[in-house]
Amino acid sequence: MQYSQKVLDHFMHPHNVGKMENPDAVATEGSPACGDQVTVYLKVDDKTKTITDISFLSYGCASNIATASIITDMAKGKTLEEAKKITWRDAMDALDGLPPVKVHCSVLAADTLQSAISNYEIAHGLKEVPNFGKA
Ligand code: FES
Ligand code: FES
Repeated sequence: MQYSQKVLDHFMHPHNVGKMENPDAVATEGSPACGDQVTVYLKVDDKTKTITDISFLSYGCASNIATASIITDMAKGKTLEEAKKITWRDAMDALDGLPPVKVHCSVLAADTLQSAISNYEIAHGLKEVPNFGKA
């Protein structure tokens, strides 16, 4: 399998790794494709709704670690509205691509970032809790 130099760099020296103490929001997602998991932690400035700090823990493969590393770099310093626009494709492009069987790893990283943002919005009354068909 051919990995880009950027994937290898982020895998060997991932940015923003680690559990965060007292985060403002957390989300953990697993990939149905492989069972790997990633957790994303956020610190958000209440007034400006800006992501002031972000970190992740990965329980997955090299691509999972590399995409979580780059997507947390991309989200840091952004407002929630800006960060919501970051897609798995942006992360994959920023890594100069991923092998086809590893595309789901970037989907997982992007989904987890979006879940963490969503959890923040729910906790702060910016968004309604999804109602899964219950009355
Ligand atoms: Fe084993 Fe991703 S499937 S690390
Ligand atoms: Fe499943 Fe990478 S192989 S997240």
